Amino acid sequence: MTSRNRYHHKIGLIAAGALVLLLSILVTSPASAGKPAQETEKYCLQCHSDPNLKMTLPSGETLSLFISQDVLNHSIHSPLGIECEACHTDITTYPHPAISYQSKRELSRVYYKSCEKCHSANYEKTLDSMHASAATGGNLEAPVCTDCHGSHNVQKPDEPRTLISETCSKCHGQIVDTYKQSVHGMALISEDNKDVPVCTDCHGVHNIQDPRTIQFRVQSPELCAGCHANQDLMAKYGLSADVYSIYKRSWHGVDVSVYKARWPTIWHDSAVCTDCHGIHDIRKTTDPESKVNPKNLLQTCKQCHPTAGPNWADAWTGHNEISLERTPILYYVEVFYSSFTPFVLWVCVIYVILQIVRSIVDRVRRSMP
Ligand code: HEC
Ligand code: HEC
Ligand code: HEC
Ligand code: HEC
Ligand code: HEC
Ligand code: HEC
Ligand code: HEC
Ligand code: HEC
Ligand code: HEC
Repeated sequence: MTSRNRYHHKIGLIAAGALVLLLSILVTSPASAGKPAQETEKYCLQCHSDPNLKMTLPSGETLSLFISQDVLNHSIHSPLGIECEACHTDITTYPHPAISYQSKRELSRVYYKSCEKCHSANYEKTLDSMHASAATGGNLEAPVCTDCHGSHNVQKPDEPRTLISETCSKCHGQIVDTYKQSVHGMALISEDNKDVPVCTDCHGVHNIQDPRTIQFRVQSPELCAGCHANQDLMAKYGLSADVYSIYKRSWHGVDVSVYKARWPTIWHDSAVCTDCHGIHDIRKTTDPESKVNPKNLLQTCKQCHPTAGPNWADAWTGHNEISLERTPILYYVEVFYSSFTPFVLWVCVIYVILQIVRSIVDRVRRSMP
């Protein structure tokens, strides 16, 4: 066959196919519809492009079976040629196999497994997540792939970046509302700031763990340090990048480190960053609603130091290095100790050396005849 002939042959086939399609739509009942070798999408959409196609599930819910060509075209999978049969592997023709679910929710929880075929790494991660354990515990509202990504209209999940918190807000609306008022959330929403954390920076995505465990708590200062100890990043906002290193040397920081290293399974209330600053409601320190604003600071300390008097917070140096201007008394105390301690040590060393010399001299004298 010449290529020209082959071409004509193809046209002929397509024309014949189209005719069969048309006939099957116009003449035959769905039960006898046939499927051409390829073009699954066209085949399935013969029936599923009907906006009125629906079925009643055993639960009594009505399920619309309408699949919009327009929505499909915008899905990230469409240009890659991923069509119906890539996900609906067990439906190839009509009549379809018997369904294995009772309700809409169960439908999602059965069909989402089709994502595993091509995204197995993410699939594995989700099995290990807090969301999966909530489902195992009987909470079927816990999300699967399609709750966050959709099924026929999958989009880039992080463009724009605000889409991430919107995705979580379907079920964690209150936390997202709080976050939107925080210094991080406001920067994200108002200026599309890429430097501030979104939900998934702190919680991860597919393997979200329970953030209320001891492990999460004692690791949380490092989470903040990821950005707040970064000199270049903090300089952009005129913020100190020493908050973490100074925290680590503070009573609270040392206390937390000691517990983390020695007693990792014992809950200890020494303050981590979020105890003073809040979690989803972190604000600028100058904001009157900030938990560390001078107006509210004592109250914040009192969560854990209930007997703290009115001057308690003043006696604390915060994230500042001790300095002559801010804390003159502490400054002189420190100067005193930092010169006095080495002085005492040197005196001791000289004393010990003299003792040794003395004992050697004594011994030599005694051994002389
Ligand atoms: C000839 C018409 C027709 C064609 C072609 C068709 N369907 Fe259906 N589909 C239906 C009808 C009618 C239902 C309602 C339930 C039933 O009758 O089985 C349905 C139900 C479904 C359902 C929900 C029930 C279930 O099995 O979970 C899915 C999913 C589905 N179709 C996918 C597909 C896919 C994928 C294709 C292409 C491979 C396809 N359909 C081709 C008519 C059709
Ligand atoms: C990327 C995978 C994927 C592709 C491609 C896909 N589906 Fe689906 N489909 C699903 C999943 C997952 C569900 C379960 C519904 C959910 O959780 O949103 C579903 C549900 C359905 C349903 C039940 C009604 C509904 O909307 O929930 C029908 C009907 C259906 N698909 C038909 C089709 C047809 C026809 C095509 C091709 C034109 C197609 N699907 C392409 C994954 C896919
Ligand atoms: C037949 C293979 C296949 C199946 C099945 C499949 N995908 Fe995909 N998906 C891909 C490919 C290929 C890409 C584009 C390459 C990439 O970014 O990983 C993609 C891209 C994506 C993206 C965008 C990734 C990005 O970097 O922005 C998301 C989200 C996604 N898929 C979710 C799903 C979900 C949810 C399901 C199940 C309903 C699913 N996929 C089923 C192959 C598949
Ligand atoms: C709780 C919501 C949620 C669930 C459940 C979820 N995802 Fe995601 N997924 C996201 C978000 C949000 C992003 C973007 C993350 C970011 O940029 O920080 C993402 C990113 C992705 C990406 C692109 C980046 C990458 O890791 O390759 C793919 C592909 C993807 N998800 C597939 C899946 C699949 C498959 C499942 C089910 C096994 C799933 N997701 C379950 C919310 C979710
Ligand atoms: C479809 C609903 C849904 C979506 C979407 C969703 N979650 Fe969840 N999430 C849940 C449910 C249900 C639980 C389990 C609650 C429980 O058992 O108390 C949960 C639990 C959690 C937990 C553990 C703490 C807790 O309360 O148990 C975290 C953290 C979490 N989700 C973060 C996220 C993040 C981040 C996103 C967005 C990427 C997200 N979730 C999207 C429903 C959802
Ligand atoms: C800067 C880091 C950070 C960001 C950003 C963040 N979280 Fe959290 N989240 C935490 C910490 C730390 C905890 C643990 C709180 C505790 O000890 O009770 C937590 C707790 C949670 C919990 C469980 C406890 C509760 O309060 O119900 C959920 C659910 C949750 N976050 C969801 C989200 C969602 C949704 C977003 C996005 C809007 C988000 N988080 C953004 C750090 C963060
Ligand atoms: C992904 C990077 C990132 C992470 C993680 C992060 N932050 Fe931030 N944070 C920023 C940036 C950037 C700003 C400045 C935003 C602005 O001013 O618009 C900021 C601002 C702040 C401010 C306000 C400072 C002021 O007075 O202006 C506080 C307080 C703060 N963060 C505390 C925390 C704490 C506590 C954590 C950990 C639970 C944390 N941040 C995690 C990036 C981060
Ligand atoms: C015991 C309470 C407490 C703890 C714990 C704490 N902070 Fe603070 N933080 C404050 C107070 C009070 C201020 C405002 C006065 C100051 O700057 O010292 C502040 C200020 C800040 C600022 C603004 C700095 C600037 O340049 O204006 C940032 C950012 C910050 N803290 C982040 C953190 C991070 C990250 C951690 C954990 C590594 C942390 N804080 C732990 C109480 C605390
Ligand atoms: C989440 C609880 C918590 C918060 C909030 C907190 N602390 Fe503490 N703090 C502790 C614990 C626990 C210790 C260790 C006590 C011990 O080891 O005996 C401690 C120790 C201290 C110490 C040294 C030991 C002592 O008791 O004299 C000082 C000073 C101190 N905190 C000041 C503050 C100040 C100022 C604030 C508010 C800006 C604050 N703390 C907020 C839990 C907290």
